[in-house]
Amino acid sequence: MQQVSKIKRLREQLADVRRSEKTIALVPTMGNLHDGHLSLVKQVQERADFVVVTIFVNPTQFVEGEDFDSYPRTVDADLKQLDLLNVDLVFTPDSNEIYPEANNVTTEVTVPELDAIYCGQFRPGHFKGVATVVTKLFNIVQPDIAIFGKKDYQQLLVIHNLVKNLCLPIEIIGSETMREEDGLAMSSRNQYLSESEREQAPLLYKILNEIALNIEKGAKNYEKLEKEAIFSLKQAGFRPEYLKICDSETLKSPIERELVIIAAAWLGKARLIDNVAVQTYD
Ligand code: PAJ
Repeated sequence: MQQVSKIKRLREQLADVRRSEKTIALVPTMGNLHDGHLSLVKQVQERADFVVVTIFVNPTQFVEGEDFDSYPRTVDADLKQLDLLNVDLVFTPDSNEIYPEANNVTTEVTVPELDAIYCGQFRPGHFKGVATVVTKLFNIVQPDIAIFGKKDYQQLLVIHNLVKNLCLPIEIIGSETMREEDGLAMSSRNQYLSESEREQAPLLYKILNEIALNIEKGAKNYEKLEKEAIFSLKQAGFRPEYLKICDSETLKSPIERELVIIAAAWLGKARLIDNVAVQTYD
């Protein structure tokens, strides 16, 4: 496995790969890898000849006062895990490499319709940071395919839209959420939970599943379902930011058949996000 931290060197390596007509897959991460990340790697290994994983804790997607400084950085352990999986190349740039902008002149990518709602409302500027860094990574690596987790559902939609709207020739794969045995979605931020909070945390997924089941059985009063769920989360000590039943493609009020229930809630120092897809049959 090669590890590269400069764009120039990465491009040289990838030019050789392209010359041999191999397909390239990209797995962007912020490191501190868990089985959720590794499942993305394994999936693209089935679909592409050469797999690039990036590890970069992207400063621009952290909002002021968030955990950028304390975000877990475990590059050595990450590299070991990726080596065991026979990843072809790991790109570990530093901030200057990704953001060479001088004199405070910046270039940003936004998907305004998704930027200010749900997670975007509570983390203003977050999706602009994500869209900008992912566009840069796409330009640097120029992969044939790239994979993202459905756990970060709104992020996945931002990326689908930016690829479509900027006419990028990249196939985006959305991958199922990997969970702990009790249902909690795997996340680097789960480490922020205390022991008792960790026991409580799977309730979020449980509640989302209960709503999905109710809708599948014919429940129509979405607002009531949302209010009751938020109440239950509060009773259990969560501090919910939002919990919403919405159209799975636009995140607007549910007008299409495919719905998704999305939620974000704080539990102690951890901000948990999760979602469940639901199919309606009328
Ligand atoms: P990070 O949180 O490190 O996640 C990297 C990728 O792993 C994302 O596509 C995310 O959706 C996916 N992922 C995280 N937890 C998962 C789980 N439990 N099951 C399946 N996939 C999971 O998301 C980011 O980094 C950044 O925003 C990034 C896209 C790298 C841009 O900086």
